Amino acid sequence: MIPLCIPEIRGNEWKYVKDCIDTSWVSSVGSYVDLFEEKFAEYVNGQKAVVTMNGTAALQLALVTLGIGEEDEVIVPSMTFISPINTIKYVGATPVFCDCCRDTFVMDAEKIEELITPKTKVIMPVHIYGHPVDMDKVMEIAAKYNLYVIEDATESLGSTYKGRMTGTIGHIGAYSFNGNKLITTGAGGMLVTNDLELGNRAKYLSNQTKTILDNKGCYHEEMGYNFRMPNLLAAFGVAQLENIVEYIKAKRKNAAYYNELLKDIKGITLSGEREWAENCYWLYSILVEDDYRLSRDELMAKLEEEGIQTRPFFMAVHEMPPYKECKHGNMSVTKELCSRGINLPSSVSLTKEQIETVCNVIKKYSK
Ligand SMILES: Cc1ncc(COP(=O)(O)O)c(C=O)c1O
Repeated sequence: MIPLCIPEIRGNEWKYVKDCIDTSWVSSVGSYVDLFEEKFAEYVNGQKAVVTMNGTAALQLALVTLGIGEEDEVIVPSMTFISPINTIKYVGATPVFCDCCRDTFVMDAEKIEELITPKTKVIMPVHIYGHPVDMDKVMEIAAKYNLYVIEDATESLGSTYKGRMTGTIGHIGAYSFNGNKLITTGAGGMLVTNDLELGNRAKYLSNQTKTILDNKGCYHEEMGYNFRMPNLLAAFGVAQLENIVEYIKAKRKNAAYYNELLKDIKGITLSGEREWAENCYWLYSILVEDDYRLSRDELMAKLEEEGIQTRPFFMAVHEMPPYKECKHGNMSVTKELCSRGINLPSSVSLTKEQIETVCNVIKKYSK
């Protein structure tokens, strides 16, 4: 079987985790927690990183840190994993859904402005499958209307926009280390910001707003959250981060080979890479057009018969029960992408032969 995307564990993971066990520093205080935050901030070139128990928590923490709550609206794409949208609801705010671009699959920055109302407080671009959103346009709109930008960079760790790491361009960025992500800690996340004040506040909120008094008592000035990551997982993360450059290189090489083999197949559209983007290709993706011999779902079934695991694009969240009453713009591109897109096998360890096997099946059923 060729899996969709499996973790790559080839470095010091065991050594560092064993160190935690040997020294009993297994919980949420420990040197690997600090080291993971430091090294991560250094890697993405952000001022401050705050580790969390997952990417969803990092997004919620971002919203809480910025004081977003009831009556506020957050502009977000609909074609995404549901996490960012749920976090908007967790804090009592309301998502407003934006359409996406047909070539890069991400939120269409040109369609944001028409969704802004006096209640809008945040734009939340999601760099789906790895390609960056047009962040200059997002930041320009945010400045014009005095809005915050929270980047959901959970799928785009290592992707750059005009040379800058995704997740560090808006006011706050969030990353995930779920098992299928570029680097993993089993479960985990990170909040990053270039605003030290916001970063320190996020850290404080993530640790139950705990202040230790002179007599060692715990004092809490306001309500906080337990979003902390244990040292054990941070140790795993430090080891993963040591190999991230190699992982991205492998993903980009695999994507280039897919592009080469698929570029002339009638009815298959490849994902574009805008001139200002460097995509980490977290999940390599294609669109199945009307002039392909099979429908998207039929092609996925054929690939499955050959032992190739794929996934359809995310379904539109604005059509799902918890969110179907929310406002949205014209969602015609979203609708199309959701019915045409497929994520192909994208593990770091994917071999040339495996890519050829996948592409041969796609070629076999073309007209
Ligand atoms: C776009 C997006 N946002 C947020 C998340 C949430 O991350 P986590 O699963 O670590 O909570 C994920 C993935 O899992 C995701 O794909």
